[in-house]
Amino acid sequence: MSETITITIDGKECTCEKGEYLYDVAKRNGIFIPVFCRHDAFEDHRACCRICIVEVEEGGRSKVVTSCVYPVERECNVQTRSEKIMEERSVIMALLAHRAPEAASFKPMVGRVGTVETDRLVTLDGEKCILCALCVQACNSLGTGAISTVNRGTEKMIDTPYGKESAACVGCLSCANVCPTGAIEYSEDDAVRTIWNREFELIRCGECGQIMGTRDSLALAAGNNEVPAVCDECRKKHMADEMMATYRYV
Ligand code: SF4
Ligand code: FES
Repeated sequence: MSETITITIDGKECTCEKGEYLYDVAKRNGIFIPVFCRHDAFEDHRACCRICIVEVEEGGRSKVVTSCVYPVERECNVQTRSEKIMEERSVIMALLAHRAPEAASFKPMVGRVGTVETDRLVTLDGEKCILCALCVQACNSLGTGAISTVNRGTEKMIDTPYGKESAACVGCLSCANVCPTGAIEYSEDDAVRTIWNREFELIRCGECGQIMGTRDSLALAAGNNEVPAVCDECRKKHMADEMMATYRYV
């Protein structure tokens, strides 16, 4: 049977189950902790960005922990915006802002969290990727595993193996859709989607003409290499029409 624990976050009493991650407890109680590399769709949290740090006081001792992967084991007092945390978070924010100055979508967060001024960091001009690895998780969750983190230091990036066309990629856009900073570029015309240096045939619904996906991604989703003739919406409409017709005659 699970054990219930009461903890205090920013002065608010919160109950949780033993082992629950601190970030989840805070979120459930309406307490904001910034996150970049954490997405509820994935169970495996990699704690890449450290923006979610908080201060935890347990048994008279205080420590800074990464809340998205910190399991609550006992009663504790948590500060999400203590002076120490705000200072350390500003440094993390500065590192990210220098790493990816073009990551426009997290600029509002810079305003909310704050950043420190420093001339000791190298700015990667034009970079948008903050290396949160959500794209890699999205790709892995489909079983495709077409992209990963490659290189080290300032050369670290997300790419296909050796930067070449990946046979594993199905062009589904899961990576681009989950990316918080719009760092994954792709293009589309009427018939072809280009992403990760590869072109994919686009399939349209035989009835409404909407793009349903790439041939490869639809075949993967179907599990039998067969591409559906109509989109989900049209298929549902057909089913509804058939049911209506059936009921009309009973
Ligand atoms: S491309 Fe986007 S999702 Fe992938 S690591 Fe970079 S910022 Fe994160
Ligand atoms: S959100 Fe917790 S380490 Fe990135």
